[in-house]
Amino acid sequence: MSNYRITLLPGDGIGPEIMSVTTGILKQVGEQLGIGFEFKEALMGGAAIDATGSPLPDETLAICKDSDAVLLAAIGGYKWDNLPRHQRPETGLLGLRAGLGLFANLRPASILPQLIDASSLKREVVEGVDIMVVRELTGGIYFGQPKGIFETETGEKRGVNTMVYSEGEIDRIGKVAFETAQKRSGRLCSVDKANVLDVSQLWRDRITQMAADYPDVELSHLYVDNAAMQLIRAPKQFDTIVTGNLFGDILSDAAAMLTGSIGMLPSASLGAAGPGVFEPVHGSAPDIAGQDKANPLAQVLSAAMLLRYGLNEPEAASRLEQAVQTVLDADYRTGDIMSAGKTLVGCQAMGEALKQALG
Ligand code: IPM
Ligand code: MG
Repeated sequence: MSNYRITLLPGDGIGPEIMSVTTGILKQVGEQLGIGFEFKEALMGGAAIDATGSPLPDETLAICKDSDAVLLAAIGGYKWDNLPRHQRPETGLLGLRAGLGLFANLRPASILPQLIDASSLKREVVEGVDIMVVRELTGGIYFGQPKGIFETETGEKRGVNTMVYSEGEIDRIGKVAFETAQKRSGRLCSVDKANVLDVSQLWRDRITQMAADYPDVELSHLYVDNAAMQLIRAPKQFDTIVTGNLFGDILSDAAAMLTGSIGMLPSASLGAAGPGVFEPVHGSAPDIAGQDKANPLAQVLSAAMLLRYGLNEPEAASRLEQAVQTVLDADYRTGDIMSAGKTLVGCQAMGEALKQALG
């Protein structure tokens, strides 16, 4: 029997609620398939700030490094929004990404037929949408130097961030993107701002050169402003999108919303070796925390990605994904995906329905 060590980072807001539903489901599928999970919980985000003063304590990073995969829920909240930057929950998340070398972020956005009417766009625009955003995650303007708020000689302050990509950084995310496109429909769109930014010109040159090694992939390029427009205008033209850290942050939220609710979408962050981090795309939703209103499905689907990409357990992953389909087919809905004629349930009840669906 395989036995996996999984680090759990429940974090803040609705994090603990959706995490507890998800670990219950993981245990159940593990029992069914003879897969053992050893869960170890660690502090991260606001919860870690309150307990230790740091959003990513050294101990947490060490526990993560020492595991087979990391399941993260959500971090942040109003309470910590005004702390100095190095103490913000978000800084902990960036530290985790950098500390584990997670340069590749996979964010699938596919519309589930049951939820088409939850999208703010017309049915004919979104029906059949199935996009994978491959976002570079440990470089670009998020990490480039120099950065900071500096005082000039006149006493005026200047805020600085720097968008940097080296050839090696572009090539390794490009490889993930081309290989992802190969496993999907074979279409890859690289998004940049090469009409203005030098860093984007290098990005475009490298990605174009790499295309020669992947004759089965049809490569296209878009400027990021146009890509944002096309995503809303005609999203079905996209299959796999590859882009840098900041553009990927923005476009993956837009892609997420095509599917009706950001509450449905999982993500995987992977490095060259070592454990990946699997987390929902949505945030910690402090406004509904502790009220049993949260949608746990993106967390469950993140656990499915953990099984598929992190542990190479595709059968267990499929069972979780199937359970999500089954509860939606049975018309169970949390508030964020509710529509007329469906049954409104809370986080716990959704968890129970998933357990039943797993059988
Ligand atoms: C995301 C989030 C993070 C990011 C924040 C919380 C630091 O928006 O994962 O998309 O900007 O990368
Ligand atoms: Mg974001």
